Amino acid sequence: MKNIGVFTSGGDAPGMNACVRAVVRSGLSLGLNVYGIRYGYNGIISGDMHLMKSYSVSNILQKGGTILKSARSEEFQTKEGRKKAYEQLKAKGIDGLVAIGGDGTFTGANIFYEEYGIPTVGAPGTIDNDLYGSDYTIGFDTAVNTALEAIDKIRDTANSHDRVFFIEVMGRHSGYIAIHCGIGGGAELVMVPETSTTIQDVIDTLNKGRDKEKTSAIVIVAEGDEQGNAHEIANKVMAKLPKLDIRVSTLGHLQRGGSPTSLDRILASRLGLAAVEGLINGKSNVMAGIIDDEVVYTSFKLAISKTKPISNELMRLVEVMNN
Ligand code: F6P
Repeated sequence: MKNIGVFTSGGDAPGMNACVRAVVRSGLSLGLNVYGIRYGYNGIISGDMHLMKSYSVSNILQKGGTILKSARSEEFQTKEGRKKAYEQLKAKGIDGLVAIGGDGTFTGANIFYEEYGIPTVGAPGTIDNDLYGSDYTIGFDTAVNTALEAIDKIRDTANSHDRVFFIEVMGRHSGYIAIHCGIGGGAELVMVPETSTTIQDVIDTLNKGRDKEKTSAIVIVAEGDEQGNAHEIANKVMAKLPKLDIRVSTLGHLQRGGSPTSLDRILASRLGLAAVEGLINGKSNVMAGIIDDEVVYTSFKLAISKTKPISNELMRLVEVMNN
């Protein structure tokens, strides 16, 4: 293997830059040429690939976003798109890829590998922490800390006005951000897609709090919750408890930005090196991850198909802290 390409794809995540830096510097130190591919799979299709030097990744470790830009490519989902991508890689002589992204990215990588066999190793970069095969994904810790900062502030105003706040956090199919924010932010209740919480459960929790003379409450809602988004849930609760002063706050994309925490910088750097070493050692169609502080490689298929459950212990913790 002589030439590898690195790209970021899907929703960006803080720490992606730290991972790009690690891939470039690991590749160079192992004697490879490293191409930075812009705009994810779209950049492979259009040939937007550029040789990187060590200085190309100077001063990016601490930066949010991704210098390589990101996209969710529709063209790559077509056979013709993937054929173009293969031809571009062949023309540049790129014989290995490092894909930094989430489930959509690895779904594409898996299909591409099965069709064209270009060795690809992934690094899990998504704030959702929803990939099987790594205890944590790059960006999750930063996103939780960013959300917590906002939740603490909302708690102040909720308390001053004796209000109930429904705060929606990201996580399309996953409640990891929500549960961590719930525990770290002392929420009265957390609603996640992994478990079922009825509107009656919400009402019971709020009533229980009022019985204990709590004057305000925070309910964290993961965006993928089965009861709907935070506005919909708040409306349903308001219909049953019209006397409550209820407000809604959707934190949205602010969770995706910002300088990565130390945990994310270190995770990203470790996974960048692990991805390049994996490629050199003949691994392919796998995602590098860290489980119990050890680097492990999990097939893309398993990483995207197997759910990483939220432990009952975490769910119970929210409940117990509210007694
Ligand atoms: O996958 C990361 C994520 O931030 C999800 O939590 C969220 O549902 C989605 O991306 C939002 O995607 P977009 O930025 O394309 O609206």
